[in-house]
Amino acid sequence: MSGAGGRTMLAGERAPRAATLVHAAVLAAIHAACFPPAERWGETAIANQLGQPGGFGLFDPAGAMLLGRMAADEAEILALAVIPARRRQGLGRTLLTAAETLVRAAGGRVVFLEVACTNAPARALYAAAGYREIGRRSRYYHDGGDALVLARPLRRDAATDA
Ligand SMILES: CC(C)(COP(=O)(O)OP(=O)(O)OC[C@H]1O[C@@H](n2cnc3c(N)ncnc32)[C@H](O)[C@@H]1OP(=O)(O)O)[C@@H](O)C(=O)NCCC(=O)NCCS
Repeated sequence: MSGAGGRTMLAGERAPRAATLVHAAVLAAIHAACFPPAERWGETAIANQLGQPGGFGLFDPAGAMLLGRMAADEAEILALAVIPARRRQGLGRTLLTAAETLVRAAGGRVVFLEVACTNAPARALYAAAGYREIGRRSRYYHDGGDALVLARPLRRDAATDA
């Protein structure tokens, strides 16, 4: 069976599910398990994002969620979170790859995202997935920390992505 991004899925592996408005509470619960109170997105905020033109979401009921949006041929990953008990099992990478597949299918040519300079796990995930630093936003986060702006160009064929 072929999974997101063309990778062969192993027995027992699940493909990420598309999130619709009815899943906003699930995504909010996962997000709340992963971020401090000041950075959490509630159900309403997530529903609003999913309802925006170009808004999309993916989740794994095991405890992973992703929110993104597309505009013209560009996409942005707005949130990616995996509950602590399920980290380092490939869920984050699988959701990211599935989002890239969706974006590519919709004609997207590049994916952008922001990550805190201090977020070593996320930076490692994005670097391993081919994202490169293209900018920096000073004092972007509530705690005064800087954000790095990362991007990954997408080609029509996943096998030739940069
Ligand atoms: C960042 C996050 C989404 C990663 O999810 P995950 O499911 O644990 O990541 P994966 O298991 O798919 O990891 C894929 C690769 O990323 C890198 N990586 C992920 N977590 C890492 C860590 N803690 N340390 C070093 N490398 C890490 C590794 O290269 C890993 O591959 P490997 O396990 O084969 O070595 C998760 O840690 C999380 O939800 N953190 C809190 C929320 C957050 O910071 N979100 C991102 C905001 S931009």
